[in-house]
Amino acid sequence: TLFEQLGGEAAVTAVTAQFYANIQADATVANFFNGINMADQTNKTASFLCAALGGPKAWGGRNLKEVHANMGVTNAQFTTVIGHLRSALTSAGVAADLVEQTVAVAETVRGDVVTA
Ligand code: HEM
Repeated sequence: TLFEQLGGEAAVTAVTAQFYANIQADATVANFFNGINMADQTNKTASFLCAALGGPKAWGGRNLKEVHANMGVTNAQFTTVIGHLRSALTSAGVAADLVEQTVAVAETVRGDVVTA
């Protein structure tokens, strides 16, 4: 699975932490996370991604369409955020083809997150 190829839960969690660090350093998308506990956010998104990448534990959290319903995220903002995931993967030393396969999995939630 992609989960195994990336190095399992610890590796996915480390990439997710860097993903949110990149987001918080980007003023075009950082404000969405004002007041959010980023340690919890990292753990939740890492858990979601582990499941989506073929890991052994099912996602036990909330429905992503409901979670993101009133945020007004645009397609352009989502694309920016995907770029931050791509950077996090690349800076972790993940091979380019595995980066793109992982990004493709994250892209499957675009329709649940984009509402504007
Ligand atoms: C929760 C914003 C993309 C997965 C949240 C929350 C915010 C947010 C503010 C916290 C909601 C709350 O606690 O009240 C955004 C923005 C995105 C984006 C602005 C893109 C522009 C994504 C993507 C994924 C994702 C690409 C998955 C790959 C999650 C998960 C939660 C969450 C798993 C927690 C759900 C739960 O509480 O059970 N998001 N998100 N988000 N987001 Fe996103």
